[in-house]
Amino acid sequence: MVPEVASRNHALKLRPLVERALAEANLHALDVDAFAATRGPGLASSLLVGHSMAKALAAAAAKPFLSINHMEGHLLSPFLDSELFRAQSEIPPHLALIVSGGHTMLVHARDLGDYRLLGRTIDDAAGEAFDKVGRLLGLPYPGGPEIEARARTGDPASFPFPRSMPRGLDFSFSGLKTAVRYTLPDLEDLDSQLANLCASFQQAVIDVLVGKALRAARQADCKLVALSGGVSCNRALRQGLREACRQAGLDFLPCPPNLSTDNAAMIAFAALLHLQRGATGDFREDIDPNLPLVAEL
Ligand code: KG4
Ligand code: ZN
Repeated sequence: MVPEVASRNHALKLRPLVERALAEANLHALDVDAFAATRGPGLASSLLVGHSMAKALAAAAAKPFLSINHMEGHLLSPFLDSELFRAQSEIPPHLALIVSGGHTMLVHARDLGDYRLLGRTIDDAAGEAFDKVGRLLGLPYPGGPEIEARARTGDPASFPFPRSMPRGLDFSFSGLKTAVRYTLPDLEDLDSQLANLCASFQQAVIDVLVGKALRAARQADCKLVALSGGVSCNRALRQGLREACRQAGLDFLPCPPNLSTDNAAMIAFAALLHLQRGATGDFREDIDPNLPLVAEL
C-alpha cells in the first residue's frame, strides 16, 4: 500500500461518501447528534482525513466529536445488532477474540472501556497469514475469502501443517506460512492440490484460534465468547468456535459478516455507547497510528 495514494483516495471519496450516507439515512448533517472517527491504529495519513472531516462536521454542527479506537470498534461490533444487547443495553463481561488483517488479540472485556489484553500475536496477524499464504498460492488479494472459497472442497487433513502454540495466550502464525512455502516445491501439480492446501492451512489457523480462545475464556472465567474482525467472516472459523463453545457450555456471539471487515457502523456504535455513558467528546484529540487498545502486557 502506498500511504500517499491511499490518503488521496480517502480525501477524494470521503465527501461524496458522507453525502450519500446522509442522503440514504434521510438526514441533514445538522440533525446528527454527534460525530465520531477512528483515532488509530492505522495509516496516519488516512486516519487524518477521516478524523479531520468528522471534526469539521462536528464543529460546523456544534455537536460533540468523539475519537474512537479502531480495535474497540471491532471488539464491540458483535453486539451492534444482537438480541443480547437489545435486551440489556449493556455490554456484558466477555472474552473477545479479535482477528483482523493487522491484529490478533484475546481481550477480557469486563465492561465498556475496561479491557484487559490476555494474548496477541508475536509475529503475523491471522488475516495477514491468510493474505501472505494467498499470495504464495497465486490468489488475488485479500487472500482470506479466496482461501475460504477453495477450502470448501478440500480435505483439511491432507497436509500436516503445524499448530504453533507459543507460551501463554499469545499466537504465532509466521511458522505456518513458512511451512506452506516449503511444501510448494515438492508438489507435482499445485492446481490439483490447491483446495487441500487451502483447507489444511485454514484448519491449522482455526485450531489455534479456537484452542487459545477457549483457554482464555476459562482463565478469565467468562461465560460468553465474542468473535470479531475481518477474519471472523470465515464460516469454518465461526462454526469451529461455535461448536467448541457449545461443548464447553459457553455462549458464543460472532460479529455479523457484514460488520466483520472494516466499517463505519462499528465506530459509530462505540461512540454511541460512550455517549450514553456520559462521554462529551474532545476536539483536542489527535490521531495515533500506534494507538493500543490497552496498555501492553
Ligand atoms: O478487520 P479487517 O477488515 O481490516 C483490518 O483492520 O485489518 O480485516 C481484513 C482481513 C484481511 O486479512 C482478510 O484476508 C481477512 O480479514 N478476511 C478473511 C475472510 N474475509 C476477510 N480471512 C479469512 N476468511 C475470510 N472469509
Ligand atoms: Zn479493522
